[in-house]
Amino acid sequence: MCGIIGVTGAADAVPILIGALHQLEYRGYDSAGVAMVVDGGVWRARAAGGTNSVSALAELAQDAPTGHAAAIGHTRWATHGAPTAENAHPHIDCTGRIALIHNGIIENHAELRAELVAGGHTLTSATDTEVMAHLIEQGMAGGASLTEATRSMLRRVRGAFSIAAISADEPDTIVAARHSTPLVLGLADGMALLASDVPALIGHTRQVFALADDELAVLTPGALAVTTLDGTPVEPELLTITWDVEAAQKGGYEDFMSKEMHEQPLAVADTLLDRRGAGGELILDEMRLSPDDLRTIDKVFIVACGSSYHAALVAKYAIEHWAKLPAEVDIASEFRYRDPVLNERTLCVGVSQSGETLDTSEAMREAKRLGAKVLVVSNVVDSSMARAADGVLYTRAGPEIGVASTKCHLAQIVALEVLGLYLAQILGTQPVSVTNEILNAMEVLPGLVTEALSRAGEVDQVAAKLTDARDFFFLGRHVGYPVALEGALKLKELAYLRAEGYPAGELKHGPIALIEPGTVVVGIATRNPLWEKMMSNIAEVRSRGATVVLVADDGDEESAAAADHVLWVPPTYPLLAPVVGIVPLQQLAYRLARLHGHDPDRPRNLAKTVTVE
Ligand code: G6P
Repeated sequence: MCGIIGVTGAADAVPILIGALHQLEYRGYDSAGVAMVVDGGVWRARAAGGTNSVSALAELAQDAPTGHAAAIGHTRWATHGAPTAENAHPHIDCTGRIALIHNGIIENHAELRAELVAGGHTLTSATDTEVMAHLIEQGMAGGASLTEATRSMLRRVRGAFSIAAISADEPDTIVAARHSTPLVLGLADGMALLASDVPALIGHTRQVFALADDELAVLTPGALAVTTLDGTPVEPELLTITWDVEAAQKGGYEDFMSKEMHEQPLAVADTLLDRRGAGGELILDEMRLSPDDLRTIDKVFIVACGSSYHAALVAKYAIEHWAKLPAEVDIASEFRYRDPVLNERTLCVGVSQSGETLDTSEAMREAKRLGAKVLVVSNVVDSSMARAADGVLYTRAGPEIGVASTKCHLAQIVALEVLGLYLAQILGTQPVSVTNEILNAMEVLPGLVTEALSRAGEVDQVAAKLTDARDFFFLGRHVGYPVALEGALKLKELAYLRAEGYPAGELKHGPIALIEPGTVVVGIATRNPLWEKMMSNIAEVRSRGATVVLVADDGDEESAAAADHVLWVPPTYPLLAPVVGIVPLQQLAYRLARLHGHDPDRPRNLAKTVTVE
């Protein structure tokens, strides 16, 4: 998730861009850059200053040329290519006369890059974005306008994008387009502006137009012309924005947690993007560990904290089932003090949204010292753990600001399950037809998560009936068990309610003594081979007076008959079910937190990234 901004017709464009980039920093800040048409060429400044990239750029741009020509800016959340100045946007073509910014992921960048290099182009970054500047160059060299060359470039790329391009040949024009990722446009004082999101425009205009998927806009001073990608004119319908900047950064949601829950379908989709080759096989290029490195693996350890640990628990089931490798999961703060038995045939996977959690990074250091191959699943590109590991697999959820992890948790489950399938592919433990079937099922998960999210109103009704409850058990079996753990964690950290996640079959060995009328039992009852056993465990608590809330597959009346309240979810492949099943539990915890008067973005005593032991 990056932030993009563009303006044409401004008296002094660069300060406008920098101001807007500060407003977009919540979308990422690995690097920042601006470019503008000046004196028949393109002037550009870029900086990679860690969390202060936009400020570092502002320093660099102090002597920027002034002028009212087309100008674009970018703040980056790195996906392809390290967060360096060379990889910072805007990217330019070989002539240095075209500049382009991009938010999203281009899936077929490798083949386009090879084609461009074979055609004599020199690419200077490791990004997926740069190919687009060179494709526009090709089109314009053939006589096309910036708009036409952008249109033909967009016919060649596959993936998710919001882009904006400028050219020295058309000094006042910005051409912008989108597919899947957001782009808003606005007009103010003889200017035309574009941005990834409303906060960047609020200081200039409150009249905005949200470009729809597969539309293209041509911005000239004081004017917007919008068409579909194939050229049919579209009449822009302006919206009036009444939010302040902070509300706008939250995208109109009440808090970051709500916004991030709603970003979950995109986080899942982006984490899956460009992982499959032409034949449908998995290709994990960015991983750095080669298939040969992984072929010798005979054991997997997965180590993490918090919600990342729960994602790791789901992965255990997937890796053992698909890749037939023993997989052990441990809490990072326990792992390194218990003499784990690892060697060069062990793959040790650290799972960390931030890539900075001290317990997990120290556990990875210990695993490396013991000779294991270390792979990190991180959301932050070039995080400390990503740099120190032998290999890395990125979740692509964009910055997560809410302390309680939501979209990153879903992206971690998906990334780890992709890893499980990849190991199965390398070790030949599953027929290609099976891995393809699962990958196809994964690709429809974003739609199922969207569907689950759309039922927030029903979850709120259930939450309203549970406001007096103080004791909750979350029960699950198989991959429903980690969902139960995560559901209980969410309720504890957000609503400050006592909640215990437990394997349903183990309840009879002790905790069932705590069940009494008034205890709420939340059961994960989506269909899998253990569903009947799960329902027997639910019967055990029901007969002892518990109020039963079940997460159940749509239309499963047998499950519903055993529950006081049902949280319905669309069904999916059993091993993928946690991606959908956790959604109503996040919403339940969120709503109970609100009903008890707690701010879900700022839970007491907690920190987003924990860098102490
Ligand atoms: C903190 C956060 C959790 C997170 C955990 C692990 O406790 O509040 O949301 O799951 O750290 O963080 P990591 O960045 O390593 O995934």
